[in-house]
Amino acid sequence: MQKYAIIVAAGKGERMGSSLPKQFMLLNGVPILMHVLQKFYDSDKKFKIILTLPEKTNLLEKWYFLCEKYNCSIPHVIVPGGETRFESVKKSLEKIEGEGLVAIHDGVRPLVSIKLIKECIGAVRKDTCSVPIIPLKNSIRKIKNKTSISLNRSNLFSVQTPQCFNVDEIKKAYTQNYSSDFTDDATVFQKNGGTIKLISGEENNIKITTKTDLKLAHLL
Ligand code: CTP
Ligand code: MG
Repeated sequence: MQKYAIIVAAGKGERMGSSLPKQFMLLNGVPILMHVLQKFYDSDKKFKIILTLPEKTNLLEKWYFLCEKYNCSIPHVIVPGGETRFESVKKSLEKIEGEGLVAIHDGVRPLVSIKLIKECIGAVRKDTCSVPIIPLKNSIRKIKNKTSISLNRSNLFSVQTPQCFNVDEIKKAYTQNYSSDFTDDATVFQKNGGTIKLISGEENNIKITTKTDLKLAHLL
């Protein structure tokens, strides 16, 4: 079956507080996003890669410039993203014409392993998607009115990407109207009646969100 990878990188990176969107910042001398392309390419050269970038022309040009500068020859199709991650994924799914499997991955998770990509794609069934999760390490408190309550963390997990789907099924799920609850793709899929298979994620598969995350990624 044909495999597609949608790498979403159309965000503004506000929490990073850098004028250059975080997906273009360097990690070990190479743009973060290029590490991600390389991981998917290395996991299977037949992956059709769709890269979702900010709509702004100057940022698209920045990407072309970086591709030349860092000799990126991995084939990929560029899609201008939207205002929300939901919109970015929806626009990218519209670019897929055939049937197959699709891995949807945050462009700022460069430390994902090839093993996890393969496992995630391998666990997909028609009406079942696969989602990597890891246990929480901190105690958790929910703020309620003027007080707070402790939650049992043993049944709470942190969700990662890639999240993998049957193409037709995730396309159907993305015809739903946007809801602010849709912070990841599995939530969109489940709301449409889909089933989720949880798989073991990786502690190193961090989402680079803040400057501290970038420092941590350098160390890892
Ligand atoms: N993303 C996207 N389109 C959007 C918003 C986010 O493609 N409209 C992508 C980001 O580029 C990122 C991934 O979704 O790769 C996860 O989002 P997040 O870490 O929140 O990145 P940003 O939205 O860029 O960061 P921030 O929320 O701090 O502004
Ligand atoms: Mg965001």
